[in-house]
Amino acid sequence: MKRVVTNSSIGSNGGNGSTDAQAFADPSFSSAVILWQKQHGRHALPWQQTRDAYRVWLSEIMLQQTQVAAVIPYYQRFLSSFPDVQSLAAAPSEEVMAHWSGLGYYTRARNLHRCAQRVVAEHGGIFPRDPELLQELPGIGRSTAAAIAAFSYGVQAAILDGNVKRVFARVFGIDGYPGAKPIEDAMWRRAVALLPEQGVESYTQGLMDLGATLCTRSKPSCGTCPLAQRCVALATDRVGQLPVRKPKKAIPEKHTGMLVIVDRHQVLLEQRPDSGIWGGLLSLPEIAPGADFEATLSRATAALGVVASCEPLQPFTHVFTHFKLQISPFQIALERRLEGIAQANYVWYPAEKLADAPLPAPVKKLLLEVFREADLFA
Ligand code: ADE
Repeated sequence: MKRVVTNSSIGSNGGNGSTDAQAFADPSFSSAVILWQKQHGRHALPWQQTRDAYRVWLSEIMLQQTQVAAVIPYYQRFLSSFPDVQSLAAAPSEEVMAHWSGLGYYTRARNLHRCAQRVVAEHGGIFPRDPELLQELPGIGRSTAAAIAAFSYGVQAAILDGNVKRVFARVFGIDGYPGAKPIEDAMWRRAVALLPEQGVESYTQGLMDLGATLCTRSKPSCGTCPLAQRCVALATDRVGQLPVRKPKKAIPEKHTGMLVIVDRHQVLLEQRPDSGIWGGLLSLPEIAPGADFEATLSRATAALGVVASCEPLQPFTHVFTHFKLQISPFQIALERRLEGIAQANYVWYPAEKLADAPLPAPVKKLLLEVFREADLFA
């Protein structure tokens, strides 16, 4: 069995003289995985009955984002229509897409077709055995290339898909988010260092099977796991915390000042533009953050009358999908109201109709509280 040593499989020494290959190597890890795979792993999946690289490749592409049970009927239909890479390469793209229809992530199908055409045109219809060459083909990333090379040709190459990242994060107690480049790079070095000298097919399938059947995201079966004895997450009671989840992006905050301008049993509302947040609803007039509050307020109210009082109310936050809106409301009482509002998009709205008014929920809540507290309902 030929070892393919690639640039990416050469460990770094981190300046301390010991390479990752030495630091991470542990033949007892792969032995435990291989033994378990032979006894308890999956052996009857349709793509396990062959070493035909075309079939292995097809299954690995289908399994990239889809569960085994959903893939099986698609895999079988695909093979009966396109039994080899030549027939797939020669098929019209509509026919290929029709066979993929329902499997989702359709870029995979377009890449699959392009990949078949390149294998025929550039490799004489034979999938290369070198993972680095496989990786140059459309739709084949580093982990998929390694799986194809291992299952079809017995090449010693490391996989690292989402399931394997979960197994590694737990067994080795890796504390960082596996999607972060430095953590992922270190996991790749570990994956290479842990490869067995022999039995790469069972080892690769074993890692996949462990991740899919025992070391699941929720409710893992640690009681029957062959790696439980060495699992750092289990020993430190962090199985539920590892792998570290993707850090949530801080959602941006915006600020606005809302004017609750009340005259007896009425409140001044503004029609919002049709597009944008709360499009087409009525809402309170707003003062943009950073504006000179006094000057803006007197300009805004000049057409309405004389301001008798302006009291800040309790600020609150409304959360939208993509941002938070910090709302600072002000209650303004008018001393003398001028009749007629200059702009047509303003309306004096009766308090007793507020409960049914087309208002954004947080604005309605605010107004109902203000009117109830001040006992201003008619
Ligand atoms: N997921 C990805 N590749 C797989 C395979 N060969 N068997 C089962 N599940 C997989």
